[in-house]
Amino acid sequence: MFSGLKLLTCSAPSDSVTNSLPIMKTEVEVTWAPPSQTNLGSVYFVATVMYSCRNYWVGVQSEPLSELTRDIFWPGTVPDGYLWSTATASYQIEGAWNVDGKGESMWDRFQHNNGRFAGDDACKSYDYYARDVEMSDELGLNAYRFSLSWTRILPDGTVAGGINQAGIDYYNNLINELLINGKTPYVSLYHWDGPQTFQDQFGGWVNEAIVDYFNDYARVCYQAFGDRVKHWATFNEPWSFVVGGYGIAGGAPGIWDANKTEQYKAAHNAIRAHARAWHTYDEEFRADQQGSCGIVIGSLWSEPVDPNNPQDVLGSYLYQQFFMGWFANPIFGNGNYPQEMIDIIAANSQREGWPQSRLPVFTEEEILYNRGTADFVGLNQYSARLIHASNDTSPVDPNGWFNWMSIMIPDLLGYRETIDPSWPQGEMIFLLVTPWCVRRQLDYFRSEYQYEGPFYLTETGISEAEFEQPNFEDIWRTCYYTLYTNEVVKAVELDGVDHRGFFAWTLMDNVEWGSETHERFGLFYTNFSDPARTRTPKDSVASYRDIATTNGFPVGAPHTETARAIWDWCLTKEPYEGTSPQAATFNTGGIRQADPTVDYFLPGVRVGAAYRDKVVNN
Ligand code: BGC
Repeated sequence: MFSGLKLLTCSAPSDSVTNSLPIMKTEVEVTWAPPSQTNLGSVYFVATVMYSCRNYWVGVQSEPLSELTRDIFWPGTVPDGYLWSTATASYQIEGAWNVDGKGESMWDRFQHNNGRFAGDDACKSYDYYARDVEMSDELGLNAYRFSLSWTRILPDGTVAGGINQAGIDYYNNLINELLINGKTPYVSLYHWDGPQTFQDQFGGWVNEAIVDYFNDYARVCYQAFGDRVKHWATFNEPWSFVVGGYGIAGGAPGIWDANKTEQYKAAHNAIRAHARAWHTYDEEFRADQQGSCGIVIGSLWSEPVDPNNPQDVLGSYLYQQFFMGWFANPIFGNGNYPQEMIDIIAANSQREGWPQSRLPVFTEEEILYNRGTADFVGLNQYSARLIHASNDTSPVDPNGWFNWMSIMIPDLLGYRETIDPSWPQGEMIFLLVTPWCVRRQLDYFRSEYQYEGPFYLTETGISEAEFEQPNFEDIWRTCYYTLYTNEVVKAVELDGVDHRGFFAWTLMDNVEWGSETHERFGLFYTNFSDPARTRTPKDSVASYRDIATTNGFPVGAPHTETARAIWDWCLTKEPYEGTSPQAATFNTGGIRQADPTVDYFLPGVRVGAAYRDKVVNN
């Protein structure tokens, strides 16, 4: 317990747009102990709290506009050349899981082991990719984000095992189709469907051997497609696949790790692999191909429940460090893990009796090698959480499903996450509609890493469940994209962010990982009972098209007036009411309650009661 420390704390801005001086800095006497981290030095905590305050509120003080305009509609536009796109992933749309020489991926095996087969055919984009490009055209888009399936190109993961020409041909056809139709390809090398052979042979991402193999794979892709692909992302959301796959068994390869070591090893190798693949591009391909290579990071935004409470502020800051900073700091920061992660995991490991920290250590050489290895950052920005300190450090909240933080961020104990019940939501109950998180996180990223761009919003979207009769009137999606695209307009016009593209998740209903086809995120409806996987536009296609083809919300445009008219309703009400009478019964006071028979720990992955038992019993 530290007492009598003089800290700068910060008070929240007023809600009132008319109050021009909403922020006050006050010096207060505080007595508090950081929950469960008491063995760390006081200096560190004082510094951290002051730093967090600066980020959260004092930073806002110098730009009060970003606060005052948080919830309002802002007519305006992004510059010409801005990229408007959708995003997809190979496993989620391609199908043809074992066709034309493709090797087995970790996701093929994981789903089959769990009795799930929707991904085998998925949307059949392997056959119908030309229709996908046509849909992108119907949306009026100028870019197209997709990912490559490693095992379609290298069936056993290795170059020695042979390059699959049919796989190369497939992606060549897709890329050419895109270019003929004026769409800039944005390609992710890894959206989670890595080779199963590596998992069987050496444990996949927890083994450093995968770094060389990933680099070989990246080189094959640059060689095969880099004459036409100028925007590469090494990984999509590394946090999701290392935690989901190697921590909590929510995704492939389905490892449950009670020791809390494997996700850190997997992340360590993913960061090494990213840095390696970036250097390979930089040294061997950049001069000829003149493209760029970056990474896509996903992280929920964290907001303190009480911005006047330093512990809540600290918790929100640490949440960002453990979620986004884990990957961003090595690449955009000093080349290493965030110091808070290093210190906290070391302290926890010591307390648990480990001879060394569970967090692996980068060598000095690796730190230098990691640093600056991205030409752009893609942020997948879906939602926000409220964070507050709590004396309860247990991993599971017996009443709820919002305490996933201590399971998915197992070393950050002593904080709880919650939500504001007024936030609207779609079918996926983790994804609350909080468009203001977009600018918050951009501000944070810029100040934390002294990074000025380029930024892309590489994914965001909302889902519905399948209706008994197909329902194309997806007003919730029109609302969602109105709200979220307006935030990038604000980021450009009000905050001066070098923001270059918006990628809607997703083009068509697809295989939403463990939820299979239950969660429908598409702008287009996919008929999964039809062997031809017919795709039909939902109403939101027209509204996203209006936004994309006019670069936002030009003053006087009819859709700008519509956006103005529906803004408050979209921001505060719940346009999505579910697909069944049962769903409606979950609607209480503006928020649907969780179905008690389902566990909702990982976005996109619903795992059953067995999973909850594991958490409780470990
Ligand atoms: C992933 C997508 C996923 C989406 C919705 C993102 O985290 O990159 O693959 O479908 O969230 O859950």
